[in-house]
Amino acid sequence: MTDPHTPTREDRFSFGLWTVGWQGVDVFGGAVRPRLDPVEAVHRLAELGAAAVTFHDDDLVPDDATREQELARFRDALAETGLAVEMATTNLFGHPVFKDGGLTANDRGVRRYALAKVLRNIDVAAELGARTYVLWGGREGAESGGTKDVAAALDRYRESLDLLCAYVREQGRDIRFALEPKPNEPRGDILLPTIGHALAFIGELEEPDRVGLNPEVGHEEMAGLNYAQGIAQALWHGKLFHIDLNGQHGPRFDQDLRFGAGNLRGAFWTVDVLLGAGTGRAYDGYVHFDYKPPRTEDMDGVWETARACMRNYLVLREKVRAFRADPEVADALAAARVGELAVPTLGDGETLADLRAETHDVEAMAARGMHFERLDQLAMEHLLGVR
Ligand code: GCO
Ligand code: MN
Ligand code: MN
Repeated sequence: MTDPHTPTREDRFSFGLWTVGWQGVDVFGGAVRPRLDPVEAVHRLAELGAAAVTFHDDDLVPDDATREQELARFRDALAETGLAVEMATTNLFGHPVFKDGGLTANDRGVRRYALAKVLRNIDVAAELGARTYVLWGGREGAESGGTKDVAAALDRYRESLDLLCAYVREQGRDIRFALEPKPNEPRGDILLPTIGHALAFIGELEEPDRVGLNPEVGHEEMAGLNYAQGIAQALWHGKLFHIDLNGQHGPRFDQDLRFGAGNLRGAFWTVDVLLGAGTGRAYDGYVHFDYKPPRTEDMDGVWETARACMRNYLVLREKVRAFRADPEVADALAAARVGELAVPTLGDGETLADLRAETHDVEAMAARGMHFERLDQLAMEHLLGVR
């Protein structure tokens, strides 16, 4: 019998080259691991059961001099392993030129360079078959109030997105853009800091249908927000284009732990939402991990963390399915009146006058317990493995 927690291509797991390739450089110390060749990353991830990889332009082609050669080697690795490229993105944060951002830098020359860098990598992404292009604006922001005209920065962000959408449309590319919110780090305060800010921004664009979200677990939790509820709203808007799964222990620096570490209960409900449990609106994209193997690990430890991200997802998927299939859970859901929320407040053919004419037994309703704790305890027991 095959192990239900061993990934297969059908599970559609995907990893950024920069995740397993992270050398451990942080603000306090240098590299702890050697550079990982993208070709090796593709082979190792394929062996572990992943279905796809994603990349920043600079992960794949760090040097213009070897550009064609590196792209050719990468293409060969994809062909040999059958791995797909499902998403790509631009590094608009590493080089010193981006110290004040890329698409929203005060310096117009920097903005023009940033836009050109994105366009160049979109061509590569499209050629490699990516359907999603992520924009994470880690340096789009400020440390102090007077230095950034936020309205002008949003105008420039919108201008860039409008130009990028027009570009892929004119090229006939089947590419959608996904904005990745983050509240802070590396900038003190980043523009489009949460799912909600980004959703509102998308409504101001020329082609809102071509732009959605790539929410990351840790980023919402850094802002003290509930990731599962955030992506549920993104799904409701039809905007959950992509996901960055990882782990985080509440509001602090961006930990980028492997998926399942950190807020484990949050991870359970995240998988529940992704599967569409209860709502019927399931996420149908790649299950993408964006995490950083801790500096304590050598390369063996890195592959262990990659394996663990997928395994934890599969274990949680099994637990979520068991929770949703449990007859006692069905009873508890009914007692908690969860299904009743799907019934419109005003009945068919009713008027507001009918509603106002009704007599409400306020005290009886107030006295009624909601029985939520029983339902939550059942979820907890499935998660803890005692049911
Ligand atoms: C972070 C971000 C990045 C982005 C990636 C895509 O760690 O704060 O999540 O990893 O996802 O750079 O542009
Ligand atoms: Mn992150
Ligand atoms: Mn991310």
